[in-house]
Amino acid sequence: MAKKVRKIAVLTSGGDAPGMNAAVRAVVRASVFNNIECYGVYKGYEGLITNDLVKLNARGVNNIVNKGGTILKSARCLEFRTKEGRIKAKNTLDKHEIDSLVVIGGNGSLTGALLLEEEHGINVIGIPGTIDNDLVGTRCSLGYDTALNTAVEAIDKIRDTASSHNRLFFIEVMGKGSGHIALNAGIGAGAEEVLIPEQNMGLERLLDSLKKSEKSGKSSSIIVVSEGDKIGENVFNFSSYIEKNLPHYEIRVSILGHIQRGGTPSCFDRVLASRMGVYAVDCLLQHKSKIMVGIIDDKMTATPINDAIKGGQSLDKDLVRVCDIISI
Ligand code: F6P
Repeated sequence: MAKKVRKIAVLTSGGDAPGMNAAVRAVVRASVFNNIECYGVYKGYEGLITNDLVKLNARGVNNIVNKGGTILKSARCLEFRTKEGRIKAKNTLDKHEIDSLVVIGGNGSLTGALLLEEEHGINVIGIPGTIDNDLVGTRCSLGYDTALNTAVEAIDKIRDTASSHNRLFFIEVMGKGSGHIALNAGIGAGAEEVLIPEQNMGLERLLDSLKKSEKSGKSSSIIVVSEGDKIGENVFNFSSYIEKNLPHYEIRVSILGHIQRGGTPSCFDRVLASRMGVYAVDCLLQHKSKIMVGIIDDKMTATPINDAIKGGQSLDKDLVRVCDIISI
C-alpha cells in the first residue's frame, strides 16, 4: 500500500515510443487537477541521478499530445542499475519532497521503478511505453499501434517495387524478442511469410513454402522478419540461404529500423496514453504502488510490476493460424 501522495514526478525511459508525450501531458494535468505538484524528469533515470527536473503545470505540456518522441528525453541509464545510482536518485527525490514516481517505459524501465520502491519506499506506477508490446497485463503498450501502422505503410511501399521487379524482399521489423509487430504488420500488409522469435519456422520450411508460392503463380514475395528469430538467425542469414537455394530469385533486404519508433502518434495511442496517464494518478491517489497500468477488454487495469515484467505477452496463436491460411 502506497503512502499519501504529496508530489509526483514523471519520466520517460528506454526506447522512445509514440504516445509518450500524450502520457506525460495526462500525468501532469491529472496531478494539477487533483492539486498535486508534478515534476518532469529529463533523460529518464539519468535526470533523477543528476537532479535534472522541472516543475510542470498544465500549460507546460501544451501542444504535445500530437508529438512523437518524448519532450522529457529518454535514456537507458546504466548508473541507475547500481545501488549507488539509486541512492542518488532517492536523494534528488527527497530534495524536492517528491514521494511518487510515474515511469513510462518498457521492461527494463519498470524493473528500475520496482527497485526504487523496494529499496527506498517511493510510490511507483508504471505506464507501458514500448513499441515491442512485450509487457504482461496490457493488450497494447504505448507506441505499438503507431509503430505497426508505420511498418505496414513502409511494407506497402516496398511491395510496389517487389511486384514491379518480380523480387523477393526480406523486411526486418523491430521487436526485440517479440513478434507482435512482425506478425500483425505481416498480416496487415499481406506478407507471404512472417518469421517471429516465438516460433521456429526453420529454413527448410521457409524454402518449401516459397517454392509452393512460386508454383501457385506468385512472382514476388514479401517475408517479414522480426529482429532475432527463435534460432538466432538474422535477416541476412535468411536471404543468403534462400539466394543459394533459389538462385533465379532476385532478392533484396530492407531493414525498417528506427523509422518505426518515430512519428506522430496514432489517435489510438493518444487516447490510450491519456487514459493511462489519468489512471496512473488515480492509482496513486488510491494508495496503489508497484503496479503497471494497462488496458484489457477496453478497461483500465492494474497489474503488479513484478508480473508485468515477467515475460513477453504471449502472441495470439490464432493470429499465427490466420497468417498461415491467408498467405497461401
Ligand atoms: O524496445 C524498443 C526497441 O525499439 C526494440 O524493438 C529494439 O530492439 C531496440 O529498442 C533498439 O534500441 P536502440 O534504439 O537503443 O538501438
